[in-house]
Amino acid sequence: MMEKIVSLAKRRGFIFPGSEIYGGLAGTWDYGPLGVELKNNIKQMWWKRFVQQRDDMVGIDSAVIMNPRVWEQSGHVETFTDPLVECSVCKNRWRTDALDQIGARNSDGSYQCPTMVVSKIKGEKDIHCPGKLSEPRNFNLLFRTFVGAVEDSTSTAYLRPETAQGMFVNFKNILDTTHKKLPFGIAQIGKAFRNEITPRDFIFRSREFEQMEIEYFIQEQDWKKYFDHWLDEMRRWIKDIGINEAQAHELEVPEDELAHYSKRTVDFEYDFPFGKKELYGLAYRTDFDLKNHFKEPPYAQEGIEPFYPHVIEPTWGVDRTVLAVLLSAYREEKNEKGIRVYLALPPNISPYQAAVFPLVGNKEHIVEKARSVYQSLKFRMSVAWDDRGNIGKRYYAQDEIGTPFCITIDYQTLEDDTVTVRDRDTAKQERVGIENLVLLLTEKHLSSLVVKPKKS
Ligand code: GAP
Repeated sequence: MMEKIVSLAKRRGFIFPGSEIYGGLAGTWDYGPLGVELKNNIKQMWWKRFVQQRDDMVGIDSAVIMNPRVWEQSGHVETFTDPLVECSVCKNRWRTDALDQIGARNSDGSYQCPTMVVSKIKGEKDIHCPGKLSEPRNFNLLFRTFVGAVEDSTSTAYLRPETAQGMFVNFKNILDTTHKKLPFGIAQIGKAFRNEITPRDFIFRSREFEQMEIEYFIQEQDWKKYFDHWLDEMRRWIKDIGINEAQAHELEVPEDELAHYSKRTVDFEYDFPFGKKELYGLAYRTDFDLKNHFKEPPYAQEGIEPFYPHVIEPTWGVDRTVLAVLLSAYREEKNEKGIRVYLALPPNISPYQAAVFPLVGNKEHIVEKARSVYQSLKFRMSVAWDDRGNIGKRYYAQDEIGTPFCITIDYQTLEDDTVTVRDRDTAKQERVGIENLVLLLTEKHLSSLVVKPKKS
């Protein structure tokens, strides 16, 4: 399944390996013309739902490079590590948890290097590297860089490994400018960087990725109530973004595995083809971060002593969302012509919401008419134009990238101003008057954009 998704993503311009013409760079990926549309639509849906449509939320966009003291105070310089082992022969490095998953542990508890050595002798089978793996040691995942012309310890800085700290260090600025009262949240979408030991599984674990995060500030005694509120919101998001709910699970993270800042964490996991793995997280970060950054309690309200608010943090990986959405949407359907592949994406996040075709590309009146339909839709939604090849092939090409509606302008259009609208999922066509087209499509799109009111 992963091969099909990776190949479709490359072939159709969703996602390419980073720096491919130079042999790539492990853990980096480039989003192509369709991928950036899909990703932006996901981010927009998130921003609308959790920032613009709520009264208790504001957004920020903070710098990727922050004062290194931020990461000292947050605990990342000291504790943001993964256990790493290194092979004495091939020098490959591995995360110990990855080794456990692939069964590379020997009966005596030591590890066998799992690297396969391709034999140079023709016909001989590939063998495991004979190297011994070192004892695990902690490897810090922070990406280090230098700020300014001098490269020494005084100019060391880090690329942020999470967007969260941008919200904490701006807490006072936001209070002073918005006068928000508890409970309220600060949201941010942005890049995060981690020097992962073993980036793998396509965009699942990369070294540069994007997060959508909320720091939701509350009074300590309310933490359970708001933890439950965000559990609910995350469940609704999974459903509405088109992730297969039957493959999504919740894991109560055991106490001894909690991140250094968390008192309770629930991981949302997804059945990826390479295993059940973390998709999103929800953590109760207590007052850990604000206490580390602010000497004085930063929140004051009339009539009560200033204090440190507590924090509930729902966090979403953008790239893992893209991957889970693509996997959930992928369909293969057998028909008389062979196999039809289509992406059953929710219409509001598909790269194109509609495609317009002139039935034939060499009849001036039909092409002109199709152009005018295309132009009128283009101001309202993202639309593709295709006038090449036979119509069946054009439908299949749009199916494969998830375009929910294909509109064809034919000879009849010239007579009665109607077009055919073909539905991606059913492959059924209906004839619609051009004057009703915008309404029909926007109604269909809007119905998948509306945030349904919560059932009480
Ligand atoms: N602020 C909390 C935080 O950063 P995290 O669980 O370390 O928590 C949050 O990361 C989310 O970021 C994860 O649930 C995942 O979706 C995404 N993520 C983390 N590391 C990633 C990586 N190497 N590649 C892609 N996405 C990643």
